[in-house]
Parts: sequence; structure tokens; C-alpha cells
Amino acid sequence: MGKLWGGRFSKSTDVMVEEFTSSISFDHRLYRQDIKGSIAHAKMLAKCGIISKEDAGLIIEGLNGILADMEAGRFQFDIALEDIHMNIEKRLTERIGPAGGRLHTARSRNDQVALDTHIYLKEEIARIAGFIYELEQAIIETAEKHPRAIMPGYTHLQRAQPILFSHHLMTYFFMLERDFRRLRGVWESTDIMPLGAGALAGTTFPIDRQFVADELKFSRIYENSIDAVSDRDYILEFQSFASILMMHLSRLSEEIILWSSTEFSFIELDDAHCTGSSIMPQKKNPDVAELVRGKTGRVYGHLMAMLTVAKGLPLAYNKDLQEDKEGLFDTIDTVKFSLTVYAAMLRGMRLNEKNMGGALAADFSNATDMADYLVKKGLPFRQAHEVVGKCVAFCLDQGKTLLELTLDEFRQFSEMFNSDILQAIKPETCVDARNSFGGTSPAQVGQAVAAARNIMSSQ
Ligand code: ARG
Repeated sequence: MGKLWGGRFSKSTDVMVEEFTSSISFDHRLYRQDIKGSIAHAKMLAKCGIISKEDAGLIIEGLNGILADMEAGRFQFDIALEDIHMNIEKRLTERIGPAGGRLHTARSRNDQVALDTHIYLKEEIARIAGFIYELEQAIIETAEKHPRAIMPGYTHLQRAQPILFSHHLMTYFFMLERDFRRLRGVWESTDIMPLGAGALAGTTFPIDRQFVADELKFSRIYENSIDAVSDRDYILEFQSFASILMMHLSRLSEEIILWSSTEFSFIELDDAHCTGSSIMPQKKNPDVAELVRGKTGRVYGHLMAMLTVAKGLPLAYNKDLQEDKEGLFDTIDTVKFSLTVYAAMLRGMRLNEKNMGGALAADFSNATDMADYLVKKGLPFRQAHEVVGKCVAFCLDQGKTLLELTLDEFRQFSEMFNSDILQAIKPETCVDARNSFGGTSPAQVGQAVAAARNIMSSQ
């Protein structure tokens, strides 16, 4: 098969080398962006008088024909043609004749592939932003569905203080909101147009890069031709964003897995979002959460891989950079899938409010409130801490909880205890009382949910 670059070669490529160097098996994904970019390039070439209007017309018609064939699944990709760019260009020339050979004027595959990837990533960023929005929506709705459910809050996975379930869940809203803002930053770095860099040094033709940028709705143009074809930092930024996002989802996954265990029994996932065991008939496994947690590893891996690919490369383009795509594509797929499946899973999740509350009845997560009670009666906090610590030790010894102590027993530890102590250390009181800004009281969480709704409606 005659290569588009075959002129200086006297021998054909080794079949194994062809297979090894070819990227068509994965970069065929870029076909729409490649055609879009080529149409803009052809229009620019004609506008600048570099090719004739007739040739540009033929090229554009031919590219649209190829696009239609591809959409209909009628296009045969050929690994001997290496990548998506040459598959399309070769086909174009077969369709329209020599005019097809003019398309690559003032362009290299190096700036062409950079352009395609920028367009592709911008489109995917817009989609992912929508999926984040959906998940945020599902989180807010779930929080609103259970405004008063109380559960133990944990530190070190030990029961710490009573909190509202809605407060806990809304944490993830705010994490995702920062992910969303990070994604906007990635958009900014991706919204830069590389075409016109040529292979690395620019071109001898009087091109109009701004025209191409306007056609393709780019806000900026790479200012240095070598930079335009060499760097993949926008991909790295996207992968960093994705890694942080997946880390957030992975933490939520871990909690969902714990909460749906028999030991916790705080939630029940919908049957539609779980799978069974082939041997143990009783099993209902939280596979979706587990897979999201697991897939976080591969997203981190893609980030590490790309950082490593880029770290030792001399400027400008090196074939190593072809390794940017599979990781990027897989990251995009994984993030999109995880966000979507998560929104559905949260919407189908049922809360076992009785078990959540019940967990508090048997623990000491109200101990801080008991100390605060004494502080409000005038005892220094350190002393109050000591008194309550002794009460807890006494309870542990007696097999009681703090709420089960009699007033006499309380008073053995401090004269400052009065009959209002029992009211002061009920889980509901503990939660209501944490009314500092950003705290877990229903009033604060209500405001946080309202603020979240506000953020959502302004997006
Ligand atoms: N398939 C290549 C890539 O994805 C396109 C650019 C190749 N340029 C070159 N001179 N080999 O990176």
C-alpha cells in the first residue's frame, strides 16, 4: 500500500512495525473532529488564496461525504494508513482526485492531531460538566428527602459526634462543586487553537490562524508554534481533574459499601444497582460503588502514565506523544460512566433512618456535648473533658450509656450537673446545637442546601 509519506522510502514498512506504530484502532474516535478541523483549514486556505475556491469546495464536499460514510458505518479503516488523519486524507483523494492532495498544504499531522484532540476534549468537557451537574442534583435531592435523619459522624472510623445524614451527604456536593470549577480551568487550557504551527516552526504560506480559531470557536491561539505541537499539559490538567473527582467518588463509594453492610445497615441500595453471587444465594453486592472505587486506580494510572511519557521528551513532537490518547479516552469514558451510574444509584438508595439513629442510642458520641454543658456552667473545657471522660469510663464499666445515668450518678462526677443534662445530650439536641456557620444543625444544613440550589440555578 502506497504511504502518503512514501516518497523517500525504497522498501515497504515491516508488517509488525505497521501494526506497532498504527493508532487507528483508537484514534478513529477523532474522526468528527478531524473532519471538522480539515473543513475549517480548507476554508482558510481558500480564503487566503492558497488553494482555489473550487478545490476547497471539492474538499469540503468530499469530507462531508466521508463523514456520512463513517456515521453510517460504511468506512473501512486501514491500519496501513496508520492513523485517522491519513485514513481520511487518503480516502478524500480517492473520492475527489488531486484536489484532495492540496488539503494538507500548510499543515502537519503534528498540529492536526493537536487540533483534533483539543476539539475533542472541549466537547467532552462540556458533556462531563453536565454529568457533574446531574450528580450534584441527585445529591441535593437525596439530602432534601431526609432532612432530619441523624447518624453518627466518624473520625478514625470511630463514632465521634452526631450529625445529620444530609450534612454528611452535602459534603460531596461541595467537593463536586470544586471539581466543577477545576473542570472550568481545564476548559480554559484546552480552548487554545494549535493549527498553523505546522510540524513545529510555522509555515511559509500566508495563513490566517484567527480565521480557523473563529470557525472552530476557540478563544485563543497558541502563541508559540513549538509549544502548540509539543505540550500535552491540557490533557494532564484534565487527568488531574479526573483523578481528584474519582478520588471523591471513591470515598463516597467506600462509605456506601460500609453503610450497606449488615454491620452498619444504614442504607439499602436498589436491586437494580446491585448484583448477586453465583454461589451464595443471600448476597446482594454493591458492585457499582466497588467498581467506581476500583476504576479510580486506572484513572490515576493514566495520569501517571502521561506525566511519565512527557517528562523526558525533547521539543517538539515525538511519536511518544501518540500515547496520550488511549489514557485520555479511557479517563473520559470512566468519568462519564461513574458520574452517571452514581446519580442513578443515589436516587434509588433507601435510608434506614431507624438504624442510623439506633447506632447513636448505644454510643458516646454525645460526650462532647456533655463537656460543653459543663463549660457553659463555668467549668474550663479541659476539666470538663476530664469529668466526662471519667463518666464514660464509669458507663463502660456499668454497661450503660450516658443517657442512662441517673442524676445522682451524674452528680458523683460534678455538682454542676442538673436535671437538664439529659435533654442537653440527646442526639437531636447535639445536632440542633451545632449551629455555627457550616455546622450540622438543621438550620445550617437547610441554608447549605439552599445555597447549593442557588449555585445550581446560576450555572
Ligand atoms: N498519530 C499521531 C499521533 O497521534 C499523529 C501525529 C503523527 N505525526 C508524525 N509525524 N508521526 O500522535
